[in-house]
Formats: sequence, structure tokens, C-alpha cells
Amino acid sequence: MQLPLAGELTAHNITFRYEGAERAALHDVSISVAPGERLALVGPTGAGKSTLAKLLSRLYDPTTGHVSFDDVDLRVASLQSLRERVVVVPQEGFLFGGTIRDNIRIARPGATDDDVARALTAIGVLQRFEEFPDGLDTEVRERGSRLSAGERQLVSLARAALVDPSVLVLDEATSNLDPGTEAVVEGALERLMEGRTVIVVAHRLSTVRRADRIAVIDHARLVELGTHDELIARGGRYAALAEAWARSQPAPGGVAG
Ligand SMILES: Nc1ncnc2c1ncn2[C@@H]1O[C@H](COP(=O)(O)OP(=O)(O)OP(=O)(O)O)[C@@H](O)[C@H]1O
Ligand SMILES: [Mg+2]
Repeated sequence: MQLPLAGELTAHNITFRYEGAERAALHDVSISVAPGERLALVGPTGAGKSTLAKLLSRLYDPTTGHVSFDDVDLRVASLQSLRERVVVVPQEGFLFGGTIRDNIRIARPGATDDDVARALTAIGVLQRFEEFPDGLDTEVRERGSRLSAGERQLVSLARAALVDPSVLVLDEATSNLDPGTEAVVEGALERLMEGRTVIVVAHRLSTVRRADRIAVIDHARLVELGTHDELIARGGRYAALAEAWARSQPAPGGVAG
């Protein structure tokens, strides 16, 4: 079955246990993400954030409960339409031997050279790759040792832009890039997110501040859900986390606004 073009992505009482694990990595979570909404997932390490992101993009199926997109159970959607609607951008993009263009085109094998150029233009980085010795025909050596970490991330973002999905699922990298590269990646990401539903596992306050709503995951459960202002006013887990973040990595303008 084909998934509709747009819709609400909803987790209905999902619980998930990794094979052989004693405890559920996610316990009875229900959450809905509206079309065009940006949801940030935050919480301590091991809480279940990445697991929730994986279940929402059907990298795994829940042990109990289900996930739907516009009321269609993801399990009955064809894998092709699912991968067209929902794209997962991994922390570290995988590169294989071949040209930069090949590495982007893998996301949509039927894409033409123009399609690839358009995807790069959409995220504002075509020129950057055209400046390589052989432009988009430049070979990335296997494992991508010739591309910087930032460039590898741009390739991941270009792959997503080429698919042009309704929903983007991002697991934010924990390691920082140098400030110049960081700005380029951030700019490309911002353009990619425009007009799409976004679920982002956030490790940075700046990312959380740009989200419409924030879900706090702790010990496999969804413990708080709301806007930044709502959760700050509530004075609970998120408020404590935001304060700790603000102390360790001050964001421009701080968290008070
Ligand atoms: N492939 C796996 N097999 C077994 N257990 C796993 C697997 N992946 C994660 N877990 C466990 O599931 C729980 C939730 O992990 P998850 O990766 O979702 O946490 P997280 O919130 O993303 O943490 P982090 O902030 O460190 O990325 C943890 O206890 C983790 O050890
Ligand atoms: Mg994680």
C-alpha cells in the first residue's frame, strides 16, 4: 500500500524490547507529530531517544502498539513508499567507493544528473562540491577518507534532499565540527528541514530551541511533552536539562527567551 503524500505521524502505545534485552528500551509511548511540525527528542543517554526515532521511521517494528502515517499502519505500507515519505539521516553518513554524484544518487537510483544538482542546490551546497577537482565526478575513496566529516554530512543531507520526503528523522551528531563547517552544515540542514515534518534527536540546545515541541524521554518513557516555554514554566525535567545545557554550552540569546 502507498502512503499518502502528507499526514500526521503517530505512535500508538508503542513498546519495544531489543532481542535478548531484559527491559523494554521504550515503554508505552504515544505521540503525534503534525505535518510540518518539528519535534525534538531529548533525555539522558540510554533513555530510548534513538530507539523511538527508529520506530517512527520503521527501522524496527514495535513489540506492541503501532505507528501510523495519516492513519495508515506503517507495517502495511510498501517499503518503497515508506522510504519515499520518511528519510532517516544518520549521524555518520556512509560513503562507498565511487564519485560524489554516485554517492548522492544511491538515495534514488533513477535520479538524473540534473536531479542530483537540484538536490544540492536545494540545500545550498552545489557550488561547494563543484569546486572539487573533478566536481561531482570526484572519486571519494572508500570509507570517504577524502571528504571531511562536514562534507560527509552534506552528502547525507543531499541524499535526503534527493528523495524529498515529507518526514525527516535526524539523530544529531554529538561531536562538533569546526565552526566554519558547522555553519555550512547547519545552513544546509535548515533548508532541508523547511516545510517538512522533522523528528530530531537533539544533543544541542540550539537545535531544541528551533523545535516546535520537545519530548523528554527518560528510562524508556515519554515523561514530558510541550513547547520550550511550557516545559520551562513547568519546572520539571526539561527545565533542569535546559539549565544544565545553558551552563555548559551557552546558546546565543540564552534559554530565557
Ligand atoms: N541494538 C541494541 N540491542 C540491545 N540494546 C540496545 C540496542 N540499542 C540500544 N539498546 C539499549 O536500549 C536502550 C535505549 O537506547 P537508545 O539508543 O534508544 O538510547 P538514547 O536515548 O538514544 O541514548 P544516547 O543519548 O546515548 O544516544 C539503552 O538501554 C540501550 O543500551
Ligand atoms: Mg541515541
